[in-house]
Amino acid sequence: MSRKILVTSALPYANGAIHLGHLVEYIQTDIWVRFQKMRGNECWYVCADDTHGTPIMLRAEQEGITPEALIARVHGEHARDFAGFLVGFDNYYTTHSAETRACADDIYHKLRAAGLIETRTIEQYYDPLKQLFLPDRFIKGECPKCGTADQYGDNCESCGAAYAPTDLKNPYSAISGAKPELRASEHYFFKLSDPRCEAFLRRYTSRDNGALQAEAANKMQEWLGAEGENRLTDWDISRDAPYFGFEIPDAPGKYFYVWLDAPIGYMGSFKNLCSRNGLDFNEWFKADSTTELYHFIGKDILYFHALFWPAELAHAGYRTPTKIFAHGFLTVDGAKMSKSRGTFITAQSYLDTGLNPEWLRYYYAAKLSASMEDIDLNLGDFAARVNSDLVGKYVNIASRSAGFIAKRFNGQLAPADANLPALRTIQKAAGRIAELYEAREFSKAMREIMLLTDAANQYVDSIKPWELAKKEGKDGELHTACSNALNLFRLLTVLLKPILPAIAGKVEKFLNIAPLAWADAQSLLAAGHCINAYEHLMTRVDAKLIEKLVDANKESLAPAPEQQSPQRHAQHQQAEVPAASPWEPYCNIDDFMKADLRIVRIAHAEHVDGADKLVRLTLDIGNNETRNVFAGIKAAYDPAQLIGRLTVMVANLAPRKMKFGLSEGMVLAASDTAGESPGIFLLSPDPGAQPGMRVK
Ligand code: 2FM
Ligand code: ZN
Repeated sequence: MSRKILVTSALPYANGAIHLGHLVEYIQTDIWVRFQKMRGNECWYVCADDTHGTPIMLRAEQEGITPEALIARVHGEHARDFAGFLVGFDNYYTTHSAETRACADDIYHKLRAAGLIETRTIEQYYDPLKQLFLPDRFIKGECPKCGTADQYGDNCESCGAAYAPTDLKNPYSAISGAKPELRASEHYFFKLSDPRCEAFLRRYTSRDNGALQAEAANKMQEWLGAEGENRLTDWDISRDAPYFGFEIPDAPGKYFYVWLDAPIGYMGSFKNLCSRNGLDFNEWFKADSTTELYHFIGKDILYFHALFWPAELAHAGYRTPTKIFAHGFLTVDGAKMSKSRGTFITAQSYLDTGLNPEWLRYYYAAKLSASMEDIDLNLGDFAARVNSDLVGKYVNIASRSAGFIAKRFNGQLAPADANLPALRTIQKAAGRIAELYEAREFSKAMREIMLLTDAANQYVDSIKPWELAKKEGKDGELHTACSNALNLFRLLTVLLKPILPAIAGKVEKFLNIAPLAWADAQSLLAAGHCINAYEHLMTRVDAKLIEKLVDANKESLAPAPEQQSPQRHAQHQQAEVPAASPWEPYCNIDDFMKADLRIVRIAHAEHVDGADKLVRLTLDIGNNETRNVFAGIKAAYDPAQLIGRLTVMVANLAPRKMKFGLSEGMVLAASDTAGESPGIFLLSPDPGAQPGMRVK
């Protein structure tokens, strides 16, 4: 029976460009949605711009336009970028809509009737020049922990400490530079600490309930603490004027803060779709709905989606999300995206540089799993992988066989050999691959599909149509071989279609077939079926294009980070990268302190038989303890010279089994970073240091 599925991706802020980090989520969601649709399920994919908040208001002011004009422009840009990457929303809406306002008012009234809304007076920083309350990200000052200047009001980029804006030393407003004043004002709170919410959330976030990934469920249970501990704090849902958003009904000058309208934007967008498509909103959102609701989000907004949002829905009498799928962040070449390195890559620049969106869709699919781990876009690997898998393996099957069918057989196919092992294997694998798609294990699915593609190529290689074509009397064999190859290609296209919708569209046209559904993996093209002329399907990634892309993003003069994409949550690091620095990504003091560095005396040193670079060191680490370490310093040191001298070792490096024995640590030495000059220079402490002393 066909399932009824509603899917969302997180709503992007309406004040910044879509970049490759955002696209991890939209591409992941889109692949899943396309898969569900191919399976014949009724599946709707909605999203919207998240348009409210102080940053958007200020940005509009800076540009000399109204917030409405700003969000309309950004909506156009976002919709263009998503379409460019073939993200097929059924509705891409805005939170600044009548539907979202109606849903927000309704939820607010129901929560209030249930006794879950409360007002309280709180003190907050206020900018006396600009005359507004300052969001945390607009307050800067010296870190209370390490003293670094110009840190944001919620966390320190230098030492990683998290704190309240009132903890900052010498705070100033990032808008006007004025010294902020603490001012009292009345705020509205959602009583998340109410025993009803706690009881509900214990159930909802439990591993048994299955709404969250296991790692997320564990994290939430940790946040909830032990039964009766009541660690949940009430959630501030209001902001004071001036603000761009929805005014709280019957509370003039008070506005709903983001988490009481952004997720409600999911409902607003769907409601809008319902009114246009004749769907029954109530059927999908009533408390006992039998439809399925899935939210794809980044791990940074898990707290809001796993606690606040379901509690809000449940206590306002609505259904709760079936599952919440959190993913990790994107790194580029192993590091946080960075403007100075040109790896903060916007969606638009990627497309404008002439890169094919399906290259990125495939690469992300090849990296994505159901876990919350970060994924890395390695630009060198990106080109190699796309060229090898998509161009070298997949497209190659069609390009080596289609021409003969057109030229020699009038475009008509011979009957495929239904027992051909390569064909049967794909048909048998389709069910397992469907399970992997369903479970969001895309990288595993890609691995399986590429193995099947290898087998299909081996078939073509073994038959060699290009040789048959030159021989007399081999027409029948050539016809069958090419027809088999095109059938193999069609089946592989079914499996890849959620990832490569545009290519699949071209293939459908060239094979002259109706849009492929998942079930088509079980059928073959009929004998006599006529295909159209083969169209070139995909070009290779040219390394020069990647260089161009990185350069284009280096040049882009972006506005100051706090204007471009304010953080609403301390961990929401994805959308912005602060000032350019060749030292990024930084390691904080806690990271550094993980390495236990100790003074050691080299008690013994000797050559290692059969090793070109290694010297075996016996290190005295104090307390009568010694360590065996293999060090790659043979080129620079004669072992005899080393005996007796002091140096520094990493004492808590995991022991490593080498060909020559166990290495129990590492000694520290300096060398030219490029490794070009031959020098290796062992570190030495000043006189007086003793074996066993900690270095920090
Ligand atoms: O974190 C964010 O990107 C916000 N714009 C919220 C997105 S999710 C949602 F609930 F709208
Ligand atoms: Zn600090």
